Amino acid sequence: MTHDKKTPLTHWLTSPGLDAGGDLRAPRAGEHGPSRRQFVRALVLGMTVSGALAACGGSDGDDEPAGGGDTGGGGTPVPEVAFHFGVASGDPLADRVMLWTQVSSDQDVDLPVGWQVAEDESFTRIVSEGSVIATAASGYTVKVDAQGLSAGRDYCYRFTSHGVQSIVGRTRTLPAGSVQQARLAVFSCSNYPAGYFNVYAEAARRRDFDVAVHLGDYIYEYSRDGYASGEAEALGRLSLPAHEILTLVDYRERHAQYRSDADLQALHAVVPMIAVWDDHEISNDTWMAGAENHDTATEGDFALRRAAAIQAYHEWMPTRLPDAAQPDRIYRSFAFGDLLALHMLDTRVVGREQQLDYADYIGAGGIDAQAFVADVGRADRQLMGTAQTRWLQQQMTASTATWQVLGQQVLMARMQVPAPLLMNFTDPTTGVSVTAYAAIVAKAQSNPGALTPAELAVLQAPSIPYNLDAWDGYQAARETVLGMARALDKNLVVLAGDTHNAWASDLRDLAGNAVGVEFATSSVSSPGFEQYLASVPPQQLAPMLVQLIETLRYCDTSRRGYMRVVASPEQCRAEWIYVDTVTRRTFTASVGQVATTQAGSHVLSLAAA
Ligand SMILES: [Fe+2]
Repeated sequence: MTHDKKTPLTHWLTSPGLDAGGDLRAPRAGEHGPSRRQFVRALVLGMTVSGALAACGGSDGDDEPAGGGDTGGGGTPVPEVAFHFGVASGDPLADRVMLWTQVSSDQDVDLPVGWQVAEDESFTRIVSEGSVIATAASGYTVKVDAQGLSAGRDYCYRFTSHGVQSIVGRTRTLPAGSVQQARLAVFSCSNYPAGYFNVYAEAARRRDFDVAVHLGDYIYEYSRDGYASGEAEALGRLSLPAHEILTLVDYRERHAQYRSDADLQALHAVVPMIAVWDDHEISNDTWMAGAENHDTATEGDFALRRAAAIQAYHEWMPTRLPDAAQPDRIYRSFAFGDLLALHMLDTRVVGREQQLDYADYIGAGGIDAQAFVADVGRADRQLMGTAQTRWLQQQMTASTATWQVLGQQVLMARMQVPAPLLMNFTDPTTGVSVTAYAAIVAKAQSNPGALTPAELAVLQAPSIPYNLDAWDGYQAARETVLGMARALDKNLVVLAGDTHNAWASDLRDLAGNAVGVEFATSSVSSPGFEQYLASVPPQQLAPMLVQLIETLRYCDTSRRGYMRVVASPEQCRAEWIYVDTVTRRTFTASVGQVATTQAGSHVLSLAAA
């Protein structure tokens, strides 16, 4: 694997000196940037951040920021600082919230950073404040757990260092007591080289929710010419660094590039985010001790890579560690009063056994179905691990909230499709295409007597899971979670991402009991089925999947978007909001589908958009 020399972005993160031409992209040959002072002032004045910030006063900058060449009283140069990556908040509770920023300077020195939380945009009613030191040890990222706040109310916050002020962020604590409404915006799979973050921009503009929930693939680990990068150069979104990320420096640089995006900055600046990682924050198809996209022979010890990825993640995300001694433990709960308990899960790192692979069951005599069924159904096969499973049981048992919501990565619903179709999905030269399958189904309905033996065999073929990386590959673990929700008689809503497509399903246990519903969000920018199955029109694929998959009620296989989930004591409602493009800056957004589940029903209903 080729590793390029340091880019300007790396330079910021490893050595805080800021070049005169420093920018989030490498300066072109012969190009001269603004003076260092002009550049820092431009950033401090919020010029890279969208107008969505204006709601909380925007940046008020600083008329006299400490500048290059200035000296302190003793002749010591005063660091010239800037908050290039905006601000963020996250993991709100009823009395506290995490605040985040990153501060860059032209000197490799510790930087004092003051922070304030106020009830008003002009910061006349300050309710919490303090100071911390930003150091090289955390890549000059800053995280503060601002406490002493009141439940269910909006706050403004900001940071200051050496006279330079960050933009002003807006956040909100969780409500407590009797709560009538909770509003979540749910995101996953934001791939920088794949497209513009129009989905984030739309959500930031609307800001009609209390908290953003990110279900992972917040960054992608691939090299510049890797997955979903075909349009990256034309879009001006080539990955940094150019190589696949492996080390702490690499992961920091990739996070920084994503956080240089104005639309993502805008979202972070207006709502708190509750996030968990999926696989790509580390590497594709991560499991406990490895990943599909990790080769120990050429890329080293996976444990080291995993630790580096997790360190960078917590440096750059506004997460609150449940246990500071265990940075890989990210599962944690959030209470929206008596209305909703949000349990954020880790189905990737702490307990997942390695994925099964159909290729391991195919021999000269065809697929060894018996062996596959035995392995995929093994009673102790783990997705979350025993400790996390026990914790979830305790959390759900203790919570009296109306809605028990699982914020997690991979699809929980059974997504089994006829084997001939699945074979065709993975290799178009085999199996039966969607078009051919639809023709056979139509023939079976109109003239069954005319079906050929081959067509009959297609119709009688077993249905098998399409994605063994999802809960379908961990069937006992799924049954355990569904069983605990049913035994506790909870209203279960599962949120999922990972697939880059939108899904709504009923969740039933193996006995067929209705246990809850799953609302799965599309991606922010990663491509979906429209790219993998380019020969099948989405308007043909979606209804066929709904027809073939028993518990699937809705899907969209071609549009990028996010989900708005609104809970009340009576119902939980999901809206799928889509943008019409991620390859142009100008876009329109629309609600593509609405689904609801009534408390006590354990099933979903589709409604008109
Ligand atoms: Fe993804």
